Amino acid sequence: MARLEMNRAARIVPVLLSCLVYAAGQTEYLIGTGKFDITGPAAEVNLMGYANPAQTANGIHTRQYSRAFIFADKKGENRFVFVSTDSCMLSQGVKLQVIKELKALYKDLYTERNVGISGIHTHSGPAGFHQYLLYDITSFGFVKKSYEALWFGIVESIKQAHNSIRPANLYLSEGELLDSNINRSPSAYLNNPAEERQRYKYDVDKNMTVLRIEDAQGRPLGMINWFAVHCTSMNNTNGLISSDNKGYASQLFERHMTAQGGLSKPGDYVAAFAQSNLGDVSPNTKGPHCIDSGLPCDILTSTCHGKNELCIASGPGKDMFESTKMIGTNQFNKALELFSGAGKKLSGPVAFKHTYVDMTNVEVPVNATTKVKTCKPAMGYSFAAGTTDGPGAFNFKQGSNSSNPLWNIIRDLIKAPSQEQIDCHAPKPILLDTGEITKPYLWQPQIVDIQLFRVGQLAIILPPAEFTTMSGRRTRDTVTETLVANGLPSNTTSVIAGLSNDYADYVTTFEEYQIQRYEGGSTIYGPYSLKAYIQTFKALAEAIAKGSMVPPGPNPPNLVPDQWELLPPVLYDTAPFGKNFGDVKVDALPSYTPGSVVEVTFISANPRTDLRTNNTYLTVEQQQTDGTWTTIFTDADWETRYQWKLTSLVFGESDAIIRWDMPSDQAVGTYRISHFCSSKSITQSVKPFHGTSREFLVKKK
Ligand SMILES: *[C@@H]1O[C@H](CO)[C@@H](O)[C@H](O)[C@H]1NC(C)=O
Ligand SMILES: *[C@@H]1O[C@H](CO)[C@@H](O)[C@H](O)[C@H]1NC(C)=O
Ligand SMILES: *[C@@H]1O[C@H](CO)[C@@H](O)[C@H](O)[C@H]1NC(C)=O
Ligand SMILES: *[C@@H]1O[C@H](CO)[C@@H](O)[C@H](O)[C@H]1NC(C)=O
Ligand SMILES: *[C@@H]1O[C@H](CO)[C@@H](O)[C@H](O)[C@H]1NC(C)=O
Ligand SMILES: *[C@@H]1O[C@H](CO)[C@@H](O)[C@H](O)[C@H]1NC(C)=O
Repeated sequence: MARLEMNRAARIVPVLLSCLVYAAGQTEYLIGTGKFDITGPAAEVNLMGYANPAQTANGIHTRQYSRAFIFADKKGENRFVFVSTDSCMLSQGVKLQVIKELKALYKDLYTERNVGISGIHTHSGPAGFHQYLLYDITSFGFVKKSYEALWFGIVESIKQAHNSIRPANLYLSEGELLDSNINRSPSAYLNNPAEERQRYKYDVDKNMTVLRIEDAQGRPLGMINWFAVHCTSMNNTNGLISSDNKGYASQLFERHMTAQGGLSKPGDYVAAFAQSNLGDVSPNTKGPHCIDSGLPCDILTSTCHGKNELCIASGPGKDMFESTKMIGTNQFNKALELFSGAGKKLSGPVAFKHTYVDMTNVEVPVNATTKVKTCKPAMGYSFAAGTTDGPGAFNFKQGSNSSNPLWNIIRDLIKAPSQEQIDCHAPKPILLDTGEITKPYLWQPQIVDIQLFRVGQLAIILPPAEFTTMSGRRTRDTVTETLVANGLPSNTTSVIAGLSNDYADYVTTFEEYQIQRYEGGSTIYGPYSLKAYIQTFKALAEAIAKGSMVPPGPNPPNLVPDQWELLPPVLYDTAPFGKNFGDVKVDALPSYTPGSVVEVTFISANPRTDLRTNNTYLTVEQQQTDGTWTTIFTDADWETRYQWKLTSLVFGESDAIIRWDMPSDQAVGTYRISHFCSSKSITQSVKPFHGTSREFLVKKK
């Protein structure tokens, strides 16, 4: 019954709204916006991105969100959903589940064809949400709670967007943001043809593209921008869940627009700092240096006297928190500047095309007589070297075509690559022949989503991977040229929305691939991967322009039911003898001056039991003149940190250390800090608890 009502609403709402359009008169589109929490377990789970098993969660700096935008034409007939999530990337298992939930709610209004979900690529979010084995190795397999938090939050954000659809206009602006990204594999970039490089001033894309969303009265509804930079400002020693530089920029923008702090509410302004062609792009703008000598690293291999793990890029700040803040602030400032300019109004149809492609077997013509083919997935030696944003271990190095006999023995114990694979991937030396292992289930994807959206003069390209700078430029140019050649306006532009729908690692150009830096070693379908992607995007662009059909392609497998989950559950929590959960162990001082750091330690429990989704583990409250308390910060905010610390493994005792970095203009007054969590007893019963600090003053010196 409830579902029937929903489906009726899904049909009636657009009709009602299209009547409103006539009243307001001037709008071109119907747009909905939504935002929801996707934060996974804040303890003991590996963080996704650096593949460092030692990097596990121990608290929260900023919460992660999913931000959804529905774009429909005036009549609500054609529509697509663009979602940007504060996760490392999407996974096919998550997308399949999101679509299943949406089908139950809205029938065929939202499907795998018109829903596209991108990840901002933070390297500080809980792992374990993938269905292909390689990506879940460092998290000891699947982590159901990470997976559920992600799909649930995405669906909630889309529901909000659906319920908030209203007449709107879109404006596009583009501009250069300097001092916020550098190329981390410049030697590979330099292998691209000179005449191609000469067309560009920089070896990374400096342009930010901003899409402003306004309602019929010209009031701001939302913003999406695309800018290529890794969310690796927080490094591989961080254990606090963080949405990194882009998440921080979103927080600044949303605060600026709503001009109110506190818990995010549905319908608040939604600002997405979405990811783009970031493959070879680092935010660590001081560049790579040898951490022992301070000298620059060897440029070709990113090593220091032969050692990979000594070559690390950082900056621009004095530590990773300050660097995250600076790169986030730069993106926020540029986005606001572009947003505040006039922008070019979009007009024209809303359209989408999507196909599934088996990337292991795509034929690509290189000239009139010869066709080449993509390969089954394999990871090269330089993949294991990691990058200067987070080096790997064991003396692997980037930029090398040679392999190591000892590692080859270990590799062959898993699976020796076939001659066909060796030839197909050459000059990549194969370390992991993932495409020829099927036990216990697939290690990397074979069938991936390829998707293209159009709204007026804007095309959004959604590849399932991390395209390098030049790979992104070639793809954008092909899509734009194809659209214009087939009748779209000459001022049509394209953006890349990276890491969308599934995760199939990196994509370099053929020329960059020859250098076998990390990105080339991680281009999993071989040297012609980019050509295969571009060929498919070109076909989608043609179909969008002509309004023709594209083949749906082969369905990808759903491997979620097969997953192995090896991380043991929380066994039990106890409070030390004579104490209770929520008791204050170290209290706040009686008073502080504005700009101080306040820290309170509570007797606590493992937060993995209760994610406090759409809620918080902490509040900072300010007393009002009538004596009541108002929450001014939560665990989502940059100004707070919730750190979880195990104090006794045997007894299951732990502390929560709550930190408030008070703004320097904090108003004088009375404040208090509270902590909220749930404990699990030996009999496995779960009970919420909370504790509150003393009331303390903030007063001028
Ligand atoms: C960057 O944006 C400017 C202004 O729109 C444009 O002229 C330029 O071609 C863009 N550069 C790239 C590399 O897309
Ligand atoms: C991470 O950043 C911290 C500073 O915040 C620094 O002390 C540490 O050396 C960095 N580690 C790595 C591996 O980059
Ligand atoms: C595209 O060009 C047309 C005609 O010059 C102009 O009216 C429109 O504003 C432009 N739109 C965009 C998004 O550039
Ligand atoms: C086509 O490419 C292949 C492989 O690179 C090459 O051997 C062949 O000579 C090329 N043919 C022509 C006509 O350029
Ligand atoms: C790797 O092999 C390719 C193709 O043979 C070659 O162009 C490149 O220079 C080699 N790289 C190194 C570092 O030897
Ligand atoms: C999220 O929290 C808000 C505010 O407390 C509440 O109104 C809403 O129902 C919650 N949504 C979900 C899905 O829990």
